[in-house]
Amino acid sequence: MNRVANKVVLITGAASGVGEADARLLAAEGARVVLTDINEDRGRAVAREIGDAAHFVHHEIGLTADWERAFAETINTFGRLDVLVNNAAICPPGPIDEIDPQTWRETMRINADGYFLGCQFGVRAMKHNPMGGSIVVMSSVAALGGLPSMAAYAASKGAVTALVRSVAAHCKQSGYRIRCNSVHPDGIWTPMTQALVAELDPSALGIGTDPMARICDPLDVAQLVLFLASDESRYINGAELRVDNAQLICAL
Ligand SMILES: NC(=O)c1ccc[n+]([C@@H]2O[C@H](COP(=O)([O-])OP(=O)(O)OC[C@H]3O[C@@H](n4cnc5c(N)ncnc54)[C@H](O)[C@@H]3O)[C@@H](O)[C@H]2O)c1
Repeated sequence: MNRVANKVVLITGAASGVGEADARLLAAEGARVVLTDINEDRGRAVAREIGDAAHFVHHEIGLTADWERAFAETINTFGRLDVLVNNAAICPPGPIDEIDPQTWRETMRINADGYFLGCQFGVRAMKHNPMGGSIVVMSSVAALGGLPSMAAYAASKGAVTALVRSVAAHCKQSGYRIRCNSVHPDGIWTPMTQALVAELDPSALGIGTDPMARICDPLDVAQLVLFLASDESRYINGAELRVDNAQLICAL
């Protein structure tokens, strides 16, 4: 308990899936959490369920003005920011010979530009914190191994994975006590996956219990986010951490 006591954490895409699991787990471990999302009804409902330790902000991550408002509300509500979890993303299907340029650009606008804005605002907000901060970037195994059926998504995750290394190195060289790491899940049982593979049966996949399962539960990823948000990971910076049950190695 209290592994992130009194830390203030902003989580994007916290209305569902991994972001929601992050918000619930971090709040249970003592953090005050700012949940942001474009899904206002669901985001507010999750924040209400968490209680006084949670605050919801409507936030489209591709818009600079929305990042300004999200950070201003975080400071007004909880006084500071200690951890940013760049989590919200979209995942449109399309191999390279089929995907249209508009889908490519929209994927990059949200998944790459949105994470760039988050890292920039996050570093500016936390670089003078005496205790520093942590930025967690939700990437994917797609960034490391490619994904034939989702070219734009894989490319956007590759972009933010390289961004993480640059942010981590810059913060270290500048003497900012900010760590920046990327998390690379394979399949997670969330609305994003369910929309893509409606025919999958979670019980057949053994989610949560089967050590050989291909698809995991959002909580399996949230546990790593908790570790990266906490001071337990104070020496881990610029790392790419897979949560994929060796799937990437099997695929290679
Ligand atoms: N589900 C998987 O199998 C899987 C695998 C690898 C990586 N990931 C990554 O994990 C993260 C979370 O995915 P998830 O599976 O929980 O998805 P999800 O669809 O359940 O949740 C994503 C949330 O982001 C929000 N969102 C979408 N576009 C937004 C925008 N422009 N601005 C603000 N919020 C926006 C949605 O409203 C939603 O609440 C994503 O970065 C995703 O790429 C997921």
